Amino acid sequence: MILEERRGGPHRGQYRVGRAGRVLGSVTPPGDKSISHRAVMLGSAARGRTEIRGFLDSADCRGTLEAFLAMGVHLRRLSPHHLILESPGAENLSEPSNVLDFGNSGTAVRLMAGLLSGIPGFRVLTGDDSLRGRPMKRVADPLSRMGARIDGRDGGSRLPLSIRGGPLSPILYENVHRSAQVKSAVLLAGLSASSPSTVVEEVPTRDHTERLLPAFGGRVLREEHRVTVWPGTLSGTLVSVPGDISSAAFFLALALLTPGSSLILRNVGLNPTRTALLEILRLMGGRIDIERTPEEEGSEPAGTLHPSFSSLTGVQVPLSLIPGAIDEIPILSVLAAFAHGRTEIRGAAELRVKESDRIAGMVAALRAVGVAVEEFPDGLAIEGEGPDRALAGASIDSLHDHRIAMSMAVLATRLPRGEFLEIAGTDFVETSFPGFPDLFNSVAHA
Ligand code: S3P
Repeated sequence: MILEERRGGPHRGQYRVGRAGRVLGSVTPPGDKSISHRAVMLGSAARGRTEIRGFLDSADCRGTLEAFLAMGVHLRRLSPHHLILESPGAENLSEPSNVLDFGNSGTAVRLMAGLLSGIPGFRVLTGDDSLRGRPMKRVADPLSRMGARIDGRDGGSRLPLSIRGGPLSPILYENVHRSAQVKSAVLLAGLSASSPSTVVEEVPTRDHTERLLPAFGGRVLREEHRVTVWPGTLSGTLVSVPGDISSAAFFLALALLTPGSSLILRNVGLNPTRTALLEILRLMGGRIDIERTPEEEGSEPAGTLHPSFSSLTGVQVPLSLIPGAIDEIPILSVLAAFAHGRTEIRGAAELRVKESDRIAGMVAALRAVGVAVEEFPDGLAIEGEGPDRALAGASIDSLHDHRIAMSMAVLATRLPRGEFLEIAGTDFVETSFPGFPDLFNSVAHA
């Protein structure tokens, strides 16, 4: 086994990873996290029965599900990934008797703040140490402008947030943070406003909320750079969740970096607002064949990826591709270390307020194994030294950040034989990718 896992303990999980000589097989990544959260939220706000296939049964998405169970939604689990929700409809959701704890998930808590602002009742939203440190003003501000009765620590800018849901006014909101979470919070609140609300965005962010709403009977108008939602009630439907491209990205990287690799990635979501990593890798010379699955009515685009070992070239990442690759910057930084020449990633200051400060975390982790990196307030530059570059084993801290942990596990497969990377804080991989160590060991071999 090239990845050995120890769970729990003082480091809250640890991986020890060594060199992989061979990478082969096929991987079906777990369900998309962003879509799973939204499917549960809309399915719970909708009256009647919603069926969710391909649900991501991870700690983050279970948190969203449990919040609605505490508000009177009924769940039947046909399998960990196949759920049936029965809801009395948004206006009949009850007041939970305790605070709602969203753990590590920014998406869950920010979207829920939007949704619950318009649903009668009193609710308190909180999360783990990381989430309680993350900015909430970005959602509290537009929601307050809509008339939401929302308050929280630090003048409403940190969790816990208290929300007393009620009628809202419409808003015309410019998505200054380029955040799909903020856009979605406003759209979900817009369902309870007195007339249509509009979000304007210069660079498109992931559009899963506006894609899903019509399937639940919501009225949405999508124009270039703006989306408008009409107030209204929703009704239950069927949602099929494709595999998460953000999770597939770790295996994609593994195949691109390992000479002779032969890996197939099946049922990967290919929503164009999520595929910027593929565009960046194309600019770097990455060889990835894409076979698109014929699209079914109402489902998200998906396909099969066939990546091959590639000689990559460093690039200046175009600013317009940053929002669509924001969660993939850690694994892109790892890939860049094995490219020829320098890769510069700027315009990504948002990374400082993710599950950890991902710029600081990746800079420290890459330096620890011997990669030269320059740090900027809004990004990093990595000196690539080709696929056979020098690296040294080390012990690093993932900062309890799932994406840093998985990215560095991929990097460790290129260490010299007999050297290892110890990664601390890996229990948090469960938030997005349950079963990652087993899947990794099933395709990467000594
Ligand atoms: C997400 C949006 C992004 C992303 C996060 C999921 C979503 O966050 O980083 O992992 O599901 O809307 P921001 O909206 O803060 O950019």
